Amino acid sequence: MKDENKTKAQLIVELKALRRRVAELEKIEIHCLRMEERLKRELAERKQAEGKLKQDERKIRELAAAYVRAQEEERQWIALEVHDRLVQTLTAAFHQLQAFKSMPQAEPDSIVREVATDAFNLVKDAISETRNIMKELYPETLAKFGLHPLIREELQHLEEETGFATGFTSNCQMRLPKDIETTFYRIFHEALLNVKKHAAGASKVTVHLNLNNGKAELMVEDNGTGFNVAAVQRKNKGPGGLESMLRRAEIIGGKVSIDSQPGQGTRVCVRIPLLLLTSKWD
Ligand SMILES: Nc1ncnc2c1ncn2[C@@H]1O[C@H](COP(=O)(O)OP(=O)(O)O)[C@@H](O)[C@H]1O
Ligand SMILES: [Mg+2]
Repeated sequence: MKDENKTKAQLIVELKALRRRVAELEKIEIHCLRMEERLKRELAERKQAEGKLKQDERKIRELAAAYVRAQEEERQWIALEVHDRLVQTLTAAFHQLQAFKSMPQAEPDSIVREVATDAFNLVKDAISETRNIMKELYPETLAKFGLHPLIREELQHLEEETGFATGFTSNCQMRLPKDIETTFYRIFHEALLNVKKHAAGASKVTVHLNLNNGKAELMVEDNGTGFNVAAVQRKNKGPGGLESMLRRAEIIGGKVSIDSQPGQGTRVCVRIPLLLLTSKWD
């Protein structure tokens, strides 16, 4: 029906229907606007939450790094206390017993000499053991001379103890931040303990220390029996040596990768970005 043929009444009905439709559309528009506002609000809240999460993560990492630093400082303190209180006394006893032991035959009788000799040997062992504990707690060489001499020294001991061939290369000419050197040393030490303990059939251990693309990298490789990394990590959920390596590196923004397969040797590699850290040796 053409508009001019419609009755007034029909036009009024259609107009009312149109008005209703417009009103409905307006309601829908308002609803959409509200939805949009809500989405914008939710998006902003989510962004804020993400920012807070990142901030919290950074805080946790800083706290963990501070905790590790405090732990290292406490180890240093214990090592110094052991030195001041124990080693000095033991060394004095050692010298006295040595003098007693080297007295001419006729002076003390043979049983007393025997006891003195035993005591002398015990004190000698105690001094050497205490020095080992001190070194484990706090390797003075690291603070004074850095990683190079300490790595060489430990590889030398490994050679003497096991007969393995060892090698060490480095392109790093400078002292690294304290956190990195300490982390590298602890991971290197743990990796070497694992070689001694687990790498059956190994004959060679090599260590590489490199600076590459703003990252410090330490690699410890052996040619021993190797192991199934995924299976061991699945089984060992506790704080074992491998787990502690991963955590130590993670705390200062680094990563550890362990490549190994049964029969293929093992390679532990730690990479730590240099820019994240500013900790200096005192
Ligand atoms: N260099 C290695 N060669 C062979 N096996 C290794 C080596 N390092 C680690 N493993 C394997 O990984 C396991 C877990 O090592 P770790 O977490 O240091 O614990 P733990 O030394 O106390 O057994 C070891 O028990 C061993 O089976
Ligand atoms: Mg271990």
